[in-house]
Amino acid sequence: MTQHIGIHDIAFATGHYALDLADLARVHGVAVDKFRIGLGQQVQTVAAPDEDIVTLATAAGQQILARHGSDGIQTILLATESGIDASKAAAIYVQDLLGLPNAVRAVELKQACYGGTAALHLAAALVARDPNQRVLVIASDVAAYDLDSGGEATQGAAAVAMLVTADPAVAVLDPVSGLFTSNVMDFWRPTYRSTPRVDGKLSVAIYLDAVEHAWKDYEARGGHRYTDFGAFCYHQPFTRMAYKAHSRLLEINGCAATPQQLDADLLATTHYNRMIGNSYTASLYLGLMSLLDHTDDLTGKPVAMLSYGSGCVAEFFSVTPVSGYREHLRAEANRAALADRRPISYDRYRALRESAQTGAGGDVEFDAVTTSGFRLSAVTDDKRIYQPVAR
Ligand code: CAA
Repeated sequence: MTQHIGIHDIAFATGHYALDLADLARVHGVAVDKFRIGLGQQVQTVAAPDEDIVTLATAAGQQILARHGSDGIQTILLATESGIDASKAAAIYVQDLLGLPNAVRAVELKQACYGGTAALHLAAALVARDPNQRVLVIASDVAAYDLDSGGEATQGAAAVAMLVTADPAVAVLDPVSGLFTSNVMDFWRPTYRSTPRVDGKLSVAIYLDAVEHAWKDYEARGGHRYTDFGAFCYHQPFTRMAYKAHSRLLEINGCAATPQQLDADLLATTHYNRMIGNSYTASLYLGLMSLLDHTDDLTGKPVAMLSYGSGCVAEFFSVTPVSGYREHLRAEANRAALADRRPISYDRYRALRESAQTGAGGDVEFDAVTTSGFRLSAVTDDKRIYQPVAR
């Protein structure tokens, strides 16, 4: 069985609109620095009415298939916590829209923001069983909180697609994981609600405790030493959270968490999340893409990865970039994807939110807005209809 399994390619897609948090700060009656410095967020992606986790996931997956084709893909794992159906897997729509063969398994995974990490590790196990197969992993979320709530400033939307294979071209998934699960109520979304229930302060405290527990388990299982890591990448509900988490890790390891040290260790991981907002399952992997796109050579240097999903599950693991990985990065295209979003005013954003059809049922047609590959054109008889975007 090959031990060299990991990320062969990685791509992201985000939504149509960009809301400047200066506008939200004005409406919330707070200083813009609360969002820009206190939370570390500048802009948030707002999904168009004809975008959802399926269109975002498909847009990310299309980039992977355009580069590698679909040969050998027998499984598509889609992680989300903003699911569109309590029974049918969103992965099935994506399998169809991507034109993947029918001879695949298509499954949706859920455990808050941790689901993408579960999918990555399950994918690696499938490839270990048969190194000829490739698994398409997609983490896709639209993060929406109650209007006027504290969480509203952390909203966002994005999908990250990863092709998991043997002998990967980007990064190997290292074998040791530190794990932590605990039944807590920090953030959850009952099925009747379109926005989560959240105890924000508790969620921050539990995230930090989870970092400590997952790290201690990682150490106990014989993982890398703290000093072995070339970089550190955290789940980023807002980018300052990574700074809080890394401070905890430094503290546990007896190191000083100076602002300079924190910036040196983390800044490169925050560029995309700062401009997109929380993308739940995709957030950690957007952080990884930002790191790879904005750091000098990391070949052979393990990147510490901390995945956290409220509720809660955390995993501390690492990926190690392989020789030649930088030839497979697309930093310019990634930055262009952010720049391509259309600015949206606060009033327009609020109108979109207030008119959103959430859980009401009934037939609805959506205006054609998105310019990505596919759009949600209608819901008819509770069936979602997706169509290619007219060029
Ligand atoms: N200039 C600079 N900084 C300022 C400032 C100013 N003018 N005004 C305030 N700040 C700072 C505050 O000091 C604070 O920093 P510290 O945390 O370092 O003390 C920061 O801005 C935020 O201020 P508040 O704590 O007062 O903000 P808030 O009451 O609006 O709540 C929050 C913040 C709890 C994170 C809220 O946004 C929230 O509920 N978010 C959703 C939940 C969440 O993201 N939880 C994270 C952990 S759970 C997880 O990771 C899973 C997931 O994805 C959801």
